[in-house]
Amino acid sequence: MARQGDVLPIGLIGCGNMGSSHARQMGALQEINLAAACDVDEAKARATAEAAGDRVAAFADVDELLRRAGIPAVIVATPNFTHRDIVLKAIAAGKDVFCEKPMALTVADCDTMIAAAREAGRKLMVGQVLRLMSVYSTVRRLVGEGLIGTPQAIRVLRSGGRITGQAGAYRASWRAKRANTGGILFEVHVHEFDLMRSLMGEVAEVSAMAENFFHPERDYEDHVVVTLRFRNGGIGVLEAGGAHAIGSTEGIVTGGKGSIAYNGGRNSVVYRLVEPGSETVDVPVERDAGRGIQSELTSFARWVLFDETPVVTADDGRRAVQLAEAAYRSVAQKRAIAIDD
Ligand SMILES: NC(=O)c1ccc[n+]([C@@H]2O[C@H](COP(=O)([O-])OP(=O)(O)OC[C@H]3O[C@@H](n4cnc5c(N)ncnc54)[C@H](O)[C@@H]3O)[C@@H](O)[C@H]2O)c1
Repeated sequence: MARQGDVLPIGLIGCGNMGSSHARQMGALQEINLAAACDVDEAKARATAEAAGDRVAAFADVDELLRRAGIPAVIVATPNFTHRDIVLKAIAAGKDVFCEKPMALTVADCDTMIAAAREAGRKLMVGQVLRLMSVYSTVRRLVGEGLIGTPQAIRVLRSGGRITGQAGAYRASWRAKRANTGGILFEVHVHEFDLMRSLMGEVAEVSAMAENFFHPERDYEDHVVVTLRFRNGGIGVLEAGGAHAIGSTEGIVTGGKGSIAYNGGRNSVVYRLVEPGSETVDVPVERDAGRGIQSELTSFARWVLFDETPVVTADDGRRAVQLAEAAYRSVAQKRAIAIDD
């Protein structure tokens, strides 16, 4: 067992948009330290390694990193369709693994990954970071404190602003194909599924509609509406995608005693109780500024080093994938899909 003061040296696999963000945020953390960077695009591995310090090794091949880097754990931040095989390789090489969301593209693959980690006695965590970011963790704290009573109704809207010709991370070529991403619910909105579960509890049933209205360069939807029935009897709706020109990330969650509403863009959380004379109250929220990523990486390191309970688990990652999978089944079969487990 490691001692307080110990640091986890980690290898980063995938040094693109998200991997380089992990590398930057790690610079602010005491418990974890980038020891090696790997990307099939060797220039990216070298740039990430150099930015992190002169003793960080660079690799262009995952097998080389796993064999030679001498690290006990890795972060997997490669495109979605590669997660399963890279995670299984890393576990087979004896590494603890932090895997970016979506955990994989099917529940069956998630089960294979969880079973492999269990059998090898390795730790596996999934980067469902949204619930840890300042606005969302504030909403979760208020719900957890019982402010509104048991949550029974939730509405979440998340849409990337659609601006014609705009460049950015979401133009990476692998993102244009469902075979690579799983579709928009895997690529982006496993975040909202995880948030909704973390506020409302487990889901009993999912129905969904999905269309691609405005993105002919992609072979999957740009607008989805998903309705969820929760096991506690509550109901919810997620509207998401990239169709609206005005980007939004907002929601409202309601229980018997009142409602809490958030707006991610404005970094705001407000609540109002239903008791007489109640007014809408603004709740102070710190700017996230990387806090969500820092808390998930710190938690992973402390799980590996000190066996502390992690803030988000592989089962959370699997359940978000399960909701995405069920939603697409609902779209294909035009009926509600029960969630068995
Ligand atoms: N948690 C979040 O909020 C969040 C945000 C963005 C992306 N992500 C996730 O992070 C992952 C990466 O997304 P991104 O935006 O960084 O994509 P990206 O295209 O910017 O980066 C992916 C990198 O992986 C490299 N790569 C591909 N196959 C590889 C392999 N077999 N071995 C080593 N390197 C390989 C590519 O060369 C590229 O540099 C995706 O799963 C995405 O869903 C999570």
